[in-house]
This record gives sequence, C-alpha cells and structure tokens, in this order.
Amino acid sequence: MPASPIRKLMPYANAAKAAGKHVFHLNIGQPDLPTPQHALDTLKQTKIETLAYSPSEGYASYREALAGYYATCDIQVNAEDILITTGGSEGINFAMMSCLDAGDGVIIPEPFYANYRGFSQAAGVIVQPITASIETGFALPPIAAFEEAIQENTKAILICNPSNPTGYLYSEEELLQLKEIVLKHDLYLIVDEVYREFTYDGKKHTSVLSLDGLEQHVIVIDSISKRYSACGARIGAMVTRNTEVRHAALKFAQARLSPPSLAQILGESLVSTPPSYLEDAITEYDKRRKLTVKRLQAMDGVTCPTPGGAFYVLVELPVDSTEKFCQWLLEEYDRDGKTLMMAPGSGFYSTPKIGDRQARIAYVLNEDDLNAAMDCLEAALKAYQSS
Ligand SMILES: Cc1ncc(COP(=O)(O)O)c(C=O)c1O
Repeated sequence: MPASPIRKLMPYANAAKAAGKHVFHLNIGQPDLPTPQHALDTLKQTKIETLAYSPSEGYASYREALAGYYATCDIQVNAEDILITTGGSEGINFAMMSCLDAGDGVIIPEPFYANYRGFSQAAGVIVQPITASIETGFALPPIAAFEEAIQENTKAILICNPSNPTGYLYSEEELLQLKEIVLKHDLYLIVDEVYREFTYDGKKHTSVLSLDGLEQHVIVIDSISKRYSACGARIGAMVTRNTEVRHAALKFAQARLSPPSLAQILGESLVSTPPSYLEDAITEYDKRRKLTVKRLQAMDGVTCPTPGGAFYVLVELPVDSTEKFCQWLLEEYDRDGKTLMMAPGSGFYSTPKIGDRQARIAYVLNEDDLNAAMDCLEAALKAYQSS
C-alpha cells in the first residue's frame, strides 16, 4: 500500500507542535466550518435504547431522503439506486471491487486523489494514468490520450469532479467527450462527486448521473463529509442505476454488515439543511480561494492555476523536491514560531517525477490564518532557496 501523501508527514508535524511551533494545516481537506446545528440537535434528541445495525444498504428512510436531495441537483434516481457507505472512501472501494477484477485496468487522469491508488492496489486493479498538465490548469487530457491508454484489460475510467487535488471543474463538454469513449469501449465511468456543490465564478457542476445514455455505465461516489463539514460521521454513498453493479456492491456491503447507524440519523437530518448553509459555505470558500490564489500567484517562481471548484490548489514551487521542502518546513523552519504543512505533489501521481515540484494546498482555514500561512510560505521559499 502506498502511504497517504496527505498524512505521511504527520510525525514531523507532531514533532514541530511538541517543540512549541504553530502548524497551519493546509495538507488535509478537513473543513473548519460548523456542521449544521439542527442535524446535531436531531442526533442528540434521538431516543435510542439499543444501537442496532442498520440494513447493509442503509436505512430506507435515509435513502428516500437522499433521492429527494439528488432531485434538487437535477439528478433523477430512486432510493434503490443508492447504497449508503461508510464515507465516500468505502464507496470508492465498493465501486472498484464491484466493477473490476484483479488484473483489470482503470484509467485515471493524474494528478488524482491519492487514495484511488491505495484502493486500486487493494483490489489488485492496475492504474493506467494519463497526465493532465499544470499548463492547461489540469483540464481533461485530450481524447487521443484516453484512446492511447485503453488496453485490453481496461474496464473503467475514474475521475473526480470537481477534482481533489487540482480543484479543476470538468465542463459538460468534457464529460460528453468521456461519454463517447465510455460508450465506444463499453467501460464503466466512476465519478467522485463529493465536492459537487463547491463551484465558483458562476460555473455549474454537471453530474454524470444527469447525462442520457450512460445509465448502465455510471457509478457516482458521494459523501456528506465536505458538503456539511461532517467528516467524522463517516457517511457516504455509491449511486448507480446499474442493477448488476449494485448487487455486487451489496455483497461487499453485507460482508461489512452495516454503515454507521447513528451517523445515518445525522445524514438524514442534514438533507433538510436550508440552502443558505451551503450558499454561505461556498461564499466563504470562494473568499479563501481568491485570497490563496492571489497570494500564490504573486510569489516568485510559483505556478498556481485558478481552480474552479472544491477547496484545493495544486501549485508548482521553485524547489527541486516538495517532499523535502515540506519536511524542512516542519523540521527546520518557523516564522515567529509558525510554520505550515502541505501535501507533496508526488503522491497524487502514478507516473514518477512529474509531481516532484508540486504541492497541494487545502484552503480550509479562515482568511487571517490563510494570510499568515501564505506569509510563512513566501518567507520560507526565500529562506530555502538561499540555504
Ligand atoms: C475526492 C475525495 N473522494 C473521497 C473522499 C473520502 O471522503 P469520506 O470518506 O470522508 O467521505 C475524499 C476525502 O478527502 C476526497 O477528497
């Protein structure tokens, strides 16, 4: 199993904190906004005598409620199309295990969410990367690159929209290009849409579940972690209209017995969160995005595309190895007792070397802290180059 690039440097961060340094955590997509209070209250007020298993596919009432949520996103699915999972993470795992056999290949545009590699490895599935480049802001690679990558064992394409780690938001046109390849080669299209709502500059997210003709091909991964700042609930979903895939996934779901019962109560209540909650969250993230991008683009030697969604930027820094630089930031650097932690870019690539000078920054801190973290980074880059 590859180590998570997001958590790999944690021992150095812990040592820095033990030594009295303040560490700005830009390494992990842990939202800092409050979870909707009404849902936490529902949870507190629920009378429970025995905390039982739930059905393996999740509570029927929650799946019904979720179908209602999807309808508000212009996605028409039934409760039966939805399998509740232990976080989006388990949804990715179930999708891999249900659609692919050991030795099968999955095409993933890199850089990609690092755990895709771990889940592929665990399933014996071979990642067939095609590279998106920082020069194009990490847009979908040309269709020719997909055609070239497809081999006899290729069974699926996996994308994340909007993307972690790049923040790239795929347009409907790009998704329609993918549709063509998927139909031509009879592939599964697994799309991780856990950041669905987080889009900026007036751009709208298109779900692959709303594209006609892909009903038997599409598997969507979802989660309440980011949408409602509820990462610790460990509730997600796998959504597909393909009955065969769902039946396969249900066997894995039955083997792990049940998704968390208690957190599904929270999840069901979250469905009725007023739209103002997400509107406010998006406004807040947008301010942070603009601040982060502006600060990074003003730094010497830094390349920072403007992301259209999620809450990440993947930047290129004027250093040989961000792995070493990020470790140095934690072990050797501080500015007035403060330093920062980022996720080195190499862990988001399957092809060696391409990501060596890149780092992912999650803008999940308030504006003051983000500004302070950017001050730190700017000064650190100068200090590192002259060291
Ligand atoms: C792209 C993406 N997919 C899935 C997940 C997993 O989320 P969870 O298991 O908390 O639902 C994450 C978490 O950071 C993510 O960024």
